[in-house]
Amino acid sequence: MISHSISSGINGEAIIPGDKSISHRSIIIPSISNGICEVNNILKSDDVLHTLKAFKDMGVKIIESNKKIMIFGKGLNSLKKPKNEIYLGNSGTSARLLTGLLAAQKFDTVLTGDNSLSRRPMERISEPLNRMNAKIFTSNGTMPLKIIGNDLIAKKFDLKIPSAQIKSGILLASLNTKGETLITENKVTRNHTEIMLKSFGAHINIQNTENRKLIKITGEKELFSKNIDVPNDLSSSAFFIVAALINKKSHLVLKNINNNPTRNGIILALKKMGAKIILSNERFSNNEKVCDIEVRSSELNGCEFGPEMADLMIDEYPILAVAASFAKSPSIFRGLKELRVKESDRLKLILLNLQNCGVDCHTNNDDLYISPSKNYKINKNIIQTDFDHRIAMAFAIMGTKIGPLKIKDSESINTSFPSFITEINKLGGKFI
Ligand code: S3P
Repeated sequence: MISHSISSGINGEAIIPGDKSISHRSIIIPSISNGICEVNNILKSDDVLHTLKAFKDMGVKIIESNKKIMIFGKGLNSLKKPKNEIYLGNSGTSARLLTGLLAAQKFDTVLTGDNSLSRRPMERISEPLNRMNAKIFTSNGTMPLKIIGNDLIAKKFDLKIPSAQIKSGILLASLNTKGETLITENKVTRNHTEIMLKSFGAHINIQNTENRKLIKITGEKELFSKNIDVPNDLSSSAFFIVAALINKKSHLVLKNINNNPTRNGIILALKKMGAKIILSNERFSNNEKVCDIEVRSSELNGCEFGPEMADLMIDEYPILAVAASFAKSPSIFRGLKELRVKESDRLKLILLNLQNCGVDCHTNNDDLYISPSKNYKINKNIIQTDFDHRIAMAFAIMGTKIGPLKIKDSESINTSFPSFITEINKLGGKFI
């Protein structure tokens, strides 16, 4: 795909698809609950479709129609051994969450993924689960994973790596485990799993103290389905928000966007940089905060963000780096270690591609420094993405200012946002 520069802004209402994290959980949790669950506005992207197929392959009846699915759950112990290995494509969320769930089943499974997923670290999930008596065998710390279903033992965990995927994997394992599992979270990670488990009747108790969160969950309690309306995805919205901020003459509206405080750092960060962003109509849907968002072109200031912000917006650094490249002053983003183990080494690719675009930037350990300029001289107009959807979308937005930029392997965008290109073109973008 080639992203061309535009002159008349990004204008209108952006239709953002359903939230990816909540969509995965909206398949996994109802599949092991009792009753019929109607899920509206589910994201139909490659990642989520891999989770959907996995549960169909494990015998769950799921009827699909357009943006809605119906899941006929039959309880905690109703999953069947799949005939084949479960292939999860690019989806780290599917891999970590399913590992937890499958560790406590009565059958064995093998999980595989694409090249990118096969390079990502899996010991971060197998190690805590193996402490619960799980039998998970990685291939030198990565996929494929062989999971021998076993009776697990409830344990206490102190989460060292701030990861909702690890936390959620442990929580899903604990559902089929006798006794109380205790997780202490020292840094904030997204809490969609806890919210949904609670509303499905799990015996889960959450205590927030000043600088940590304690999650207690008692296993072997059946869950009961409720219908779910998936709100729209803030991470996907971020590409459109930044496109509107950095392009003059823009006025954009986004509706029904998930504004969960455990992952809305991008809004806080952009506002701190001086972005004209107005949130309105704030409300709750299935216990998740949602709101509408209005954005206008803005003169951004550079900003320094510490590691505590990384916990609230880890997926948004590629697009935040693009925003910072057009600010009036330099920015420093600190504590980006986890960016190295996402769908690609995102810190490496942000740096490489910004430098190719002529941006003066460097890293120092896990900190990123960006010094913006008014006149970029592109060194190389081919963007390397390593099949990472968020790198592809972020640099497509970069192209709206300094394009044409050729985005390599842009089909990766289908992992989270299949309508991205048509939607931005509808609002004034020129992606061909
Ligand atoms: C996700 C958690 C985050 C995030 C990912 C989705 C989830 O990963 O980067 O895109 O749905 O739980 P980590 O929890 O590993 O940081």
